[in-house]
Amino acid sequence: MSNILITGATGNIGSEVIRYLFEQNTQNRIIAGVRNIDRAKRIFQKYPQLDYVPFDFEDPETFDNALTGIDRVFLLRPPHLSNVDKHFRPLINLMLKKGILEIVFLSVQGAEKSKVIPHNKMERLIIENGLNYIFLRPSYFMQNLTTTLLDDIQQKREIILPAGDAKFNWIDIDNIAEVGAIVLDNFQNYKNRILEITGKENLNFKEISSIMNNNLNHPISYRNVNPLKFFRVKKREGMPTGMILVMIMLHFLPRFQKEPPISNVYEQLTGRKPTKLEDFIEREKGLFEKS
Ligand SMILES: NC(=O)c1ccc[n+]([C@@H]2O[C@H](COP(=O)([O-])OP(=O)(O)OC[C@H]3O[C@@H](n4cnc5c(N)ncnc54)[C@H](OP(=O)(O)O)[C@@H]3O)[C@@H](O)[C@H]2O)c1
Repeated sequence: MSNILITGATGNIGSEVIRYLFEQNTQNRIIAGVRNIDRAKRIFQKYPQLDYVPFDFEDPETFDNALTGIDRVFLLRPPHLSNVDKHFRPLINLMLKKGILEIVFLSVQGAEKSKVIPHNKMERLIIENGLNYIFLRPSYFMQNLTTTLLDDIQQKREIILPAGDAKFNWIDIDNIAEVGAIVLDNFQNYKNRILEITGKENLNFKEISSIMNNNLNHPISYRNVNPLKFFRVKKREGMPTGMILVMIMLHFLPRFQKEPPISNVYEQLTGRKPTKLEDFIEREKGLFEKS
């Protein structure tokens, strides 16, 4: 039995990883490293076997206790933390000191292409320190539609982005988390591998809105804007500047890149096909119809 620390446990991916670990009857001890244990206990009340430990990337004093007795770490970079040297290097150093050599890191598809994105720096940090790793590199989350883009969909009936006609590969977080749980429980089988996790569909936002409109009672539209206009609109709405810049990078740059490659990793690991966008939209229809 291994002791597995899950960071980002209460977020989109982390909470689903925990659900899949217990659904597959993990034989390992799972510990959620969280900032607020009471809140986490409410979120995970269905899983009495889950253990908890205080953990805050922004408070290195929490690291030592959180890593005590741990064999393997699921590392997730919270979206607002980009300073790898400040928030992640000390953690990796302490893992080494404590002899914790197994890490599953949630990266992003294409991380290898850009040295400036934090995921690239984190992958290099992990490799350079000689840890045994599994990098999960998922494509664009379908759940962006039900999180960051949802307010505009519900309130304005539109998706506003500087994405032009760029195609994104769409992946369901459920599928990523399922792969995450499999590799966490079977680390040796996937050790030192990079797993690109994608869906089967490369679609632009025009195509997305049309698929949504085939399924929704209240239609939505896609408004393509230039990055400056996007910045102004979102700033006026009170979105933090850092977040606006990340949104621009994520949606504007793909206009100048090749379509994302499609992988078979999900099928290879689970024997099933990844979620289709149409099925995701049907599943989340209630959210999209609300105003
Ligand atoms: N969106 C995409 O299309 C996409 C695609 C590929 C990869 N990714 C990557 O996926 C990652 C985001 O995953 P996600 O959507 O699951 O994130 P998320 O839902 O925003 O969850 C973030 C998690 O991190 C925790 N957290 C935040 N600040 C923390 C801190 N200081 N110390 C400890 N924990 C902290 C949060 O806990 P609390 O409950 O305490 O807030 C939460 O559990 C990012 O690295 C992103 O780049 C995203």
